[in-house]
Amino acid sequence: MKNQLLALLLLCLLIFSCTNKYAEVINLESDYQIIPKPKSLEILKGKFLVDEKTEINCDETLKNEAGYLSEILGLAIGKEVPIYSKRNKGNIILKLDDKVSNNEGYELFVEYDKVVISGKSPTGIFYGIQTLKQLMPTVIEKKGVLEGELTIPAIHIEDSPRYNYRGMHLDVARHFFPVTYIKKYIDLIAMHKMNTFHWHLTEDQGWRIEIKKYPKLTEVGGWRNGTIIGHSPGTGNDQKKYGGYYTQEEVKEVVEYAASKHITVIPEIEMPGHSGAAIAAYPYLSCFPEEPTDKNYSMLSEKSKALQKAGTPKVVYETWGIIKDVYCAGKEETFTFLEDVLSEVMALFPSTYIHIGGDECPKENWKCCPKCQHRIKNLSLKDEHELQSYFIQRMERFINSKGKKIIGWDEILEGGLAPNATVMSWRGEKGGIEAAKQRHNVIMTPSHSCYFDHYQHEDKDNEPLAIGGLTTVKDVYAYNPSPSELTEVEQNYILGAQGNVWTEYIGTEDYLEYMVLPRMTALSEVIWTPQELRDWDDFKRRLPNLIARYKALNFNYAGYEGGF
Ligand code: ACM
Ligand code: ZN
Repeated sequence: MKNQLLALLLLCLLIFSCTNKYAEVINLESDYQIIPKPKSLEILKGKFLVDEKTEINCDETLKNEAGYLSEILGLAIGKEVPIYSKRNKGNIILKLDDKVSNNEGYELFVEYDKVVISGKSPTGIFYGIQTLKQLMPTVIEKKGVLEGELTIPAIHIEDSPRYNYRGMHLDVARHFFPVTYIKKYIDLIAMHKMNTFHWHLTEDQGWRIEIKKYPKLTEVGGWRNGTIIGHSPGTGNDQKKYGGYYTQEEVKEVVEYAASKHITVIPEIEMPGHSGAAIAAYPYLSCFPEEPTDKNYSMLSEKSKALQKAGTPKVVYETWGIIKDVYCAGKEETFTFLEDVLSEVMALFPSTYIHIGGDECPKENWKCCPKCQHRIKNLSLKDEHELQSYFIQRMERFINSKGKKIIGWDEILEGGLAPNATVMSWRGEKGGIEAAKQRHNVIMTPSHSCYFDHYQHEDKDNEPLAIGGLTTVKDVYAYNPSPSELTEVEQNYILGAQGNVWTEYIGTEDYLEYMVLPRMTALSEVIWTPQELRDWDDFKRRLPNLIARYKALNFNYAGYEGGF
């Protein structure tokens, strides 16, 4: 009797699996290495087959997302995957659904006969597709043709991010990266379900964005006559002209590309410090226009020394560090210049936020500049810190008047915070905690956990040159952006976190990737996944799937504890 029953059961199974061989395949946990880890994940039986009968059905407003998915799948199977918006067509369904509560959240069902991705917004659908990609073979990352069948393991996921702000920064001023590469960087951000690209565009060592009213910003400020060799203060100067900039048309192209990947681009125009390149272009912006650029004169290029001798005192900086020659806060011309620059910048970037820097502004020049001192006296300011606060608050009023908001580094707390400012906390979390207590929005980028220009392995001698510090992948992963010192209400002011990539020592694309991968992968989980679901060993088990994707996409990456 027992044997007869067993035989009957086996027969049933055989018939069922002949009807659809993808219904009964039992999947392994290893098929589900998703990063960032979803909020809830239920493994189902079976697989979905992508083949010549596969069709996508989507709402009209999801054409961009459907097109993206169709291209990936179509290339993998070597056949077009058509898109319909008619009812009852298609076995991959993308649909907007108000039942998904988070604006960036999604629900994904993969079953043997259909795939359904629902989201409250197209962004949620896009993230559902990112997850779907991680369930497929890595060849789809390369947009290549798969040998054999393309199947997706069955699953049910409900997912949404922990924080609204999930960013990656890139300093393109110390070293320049062309538009083609910026797009690749944006792809990487999208793959990690991050939603913000913080584009650090101006510095002492280069001005990188075309401003039509002030052409010298890029003609002069976009180029330096050499760069120090080795770690600051350097062992010499390479004597090579270095630079580049983005035209306004290119900026628009980047912003549009990022938007198609659901990424907001926030430009940073530094003030009042880190303004050496603008001062080289327009020396009247300095407190002392006749005073030569002097940071480590002995390391200056021969070309710049000759220029200075011939009567051009200001040159674009060729060494790294904090520079005392900053925008004069006493002259009205400085504010006119910055308002003009920001007007052009704001017209290019739809982002609500404009980052205006505010960090590392020495007060030496302001202390001995008659115009700065006059402003302090006239406005009854206490000191130069209050003058910096005046500077930032005045720029905030201008930016707010155009319907935008400012972000500044945590130094903007000194001398009094601008009323509507968001603080980016980089010198640890102290500034962020203070700002949240003052009921200001905060983005956490503490250097100990979020600075990807730091070394990442203890054995620094066998690492390429980095700025210093030590931030391992594990350190990044261990970070919790919501400090326990804050009350629940105060924690609501923590918008999220960001990885920062300062490029003094990062001159190539290969090295940039080595510095960000897999640290940004760890950060993506910090800012997406609920804190209680995060586990380092579990993350390490899932990381190989992402590493395989870096390889498929030709991204360089660093080794990490337990694997390469
Ligand atoms: C910074 O790293 N100076 C914001
Ligand atoms: Zn001054």
